Amino acid sequence: MNKIKIIKPTLKDLEAVVNVEKAAWPDIGDGMVAEHSKFKTRIELGLMHLLYFNGKPAGIISYQYPSFTNSEILNSIYDEHTQKKDFLSWDYLVHNFKLPKNWYEATNNGFVINDGISTNNYNSDCVFLIGVGVDTKLKGNGLVNYLISHTIKEAKQEGKKFVLGYGRLPQLSEQYENPTIIDAQNHLLKLKPNTDLPDDYGARFHVFNGARAVSVIPNAMDDPESKNYGFLALYNLK
Ligand SMILES: CC(C)(COP(=O)(O)OP(=O)(O)OC[C@H]1O[C@@H](n2cnc3c(N)ncnc32)[C@H](O)[C@@H]1OP(=O)(O)O)[C@@H](O)C(=O)NCCC(=O)NCCS
Repeated sequence: MNKIKIIKPTLKDLEAVVNVEKAAWPDIGDGMVAEHSKFKTRIELGLMHLLYFNGKPAGIISYQYPSFTNSEILNSIYDEHTQKKDFLSWDYLVHNFKLPKNWYEATNNGFVINDGISTNNYNSDCVFLIGVGVDTKLKGNGLVNYLISHTIKEAKQEGKKFVLGYGRLPQLSEQYENPTIIDAQNHLLKLKPNTDLPDDYGARFHVFNGARAVSVIPNAMDDPESKNYGFLALYNLK
C-alpha cells in the first residue's frame, strides 16, 4: 500500500521543496516556478506543507493567513454568489471588497514579506492558498487532494472560517487562442463527463475539496496555459 506522510518543512527540507516545485511545473517559463528565496521565507514563517509519497518528497502546498481580507467580507461574497447563482464580476469584487486584483498583489509577488510589507497576518480568520504542486511523475495518485484536505483540516482546527485561492485554468489554452471573459467562464462551467466537477483539472481539485468557483479573474497571473485567467475559489468552512 502507498504510504503518505505530510510534514511542516523546516529549512533542512528547503532543497527537497524546491525540487518538488521544479518537478511539478510544466516547462512554460520560469515565472511560474517559485524559487529558493520565496520558499525559504514561507518555510521560516511556517506557511508550507510537504508531502512524502512512499518515503520520497512528492508534493508541496504554500499558504498564508491573508492580511487583506476576513471572514465577514468573504461571507458577504459567498452570500452574493448564492443569491446571484452566477459568477460575480471580478472588478466589482476588487472595488467593493478590496480583494487584491491579482496573485502578485495577494502574495507580495510570492515573497509574502517584501520591503517590510506583509500579506500574511496570523490573526486573520482565513487561509489563502498561495500554490500547490505535485511531482509530474506521480500524477494520478490524487496527491493534490491530500495536500488541500490536510490544509483545510488544519485551518478548521485553528478556528479559521474560510479558505480562498486564485485558482488556475490550465486547460483553457487547449480550447481557445484568445479567450474572452465569457469564454473563460464557459470553460470553467464545463463539467468532466459523468461528474459534477469541472472539466479543467486546475479547478477540479478545488471543487472536489469543497470550493465554489465564485468569479473569473482576468490577468490573475502571467500564465500562458491559463491565458492569464484565474478564478476565485472560496471554501466556506462552516
Ligand atoms: C495541479 C496539480 C497540483 C494536480 O496534482 P496531482 O496530484 O498530480 O493531481 P491528481 O493526480 O489528483 O489529478 C487530478 C486530476 O487532474 C488530472 N490532471 C492532472 N494533471 C493533468 C494535466 N496536465 N492534464 C490533464 N489532466 C490532468 C488527473 O487526471 C486527475 O483527474 P481526476 O480528478 O479525474 O482523477 C499538478 O498537476 C501540478 O502540480 N501542476 C502544476 C502546478 C499547478 O498547476 N498547481 C495548481 C495551481 S497553484
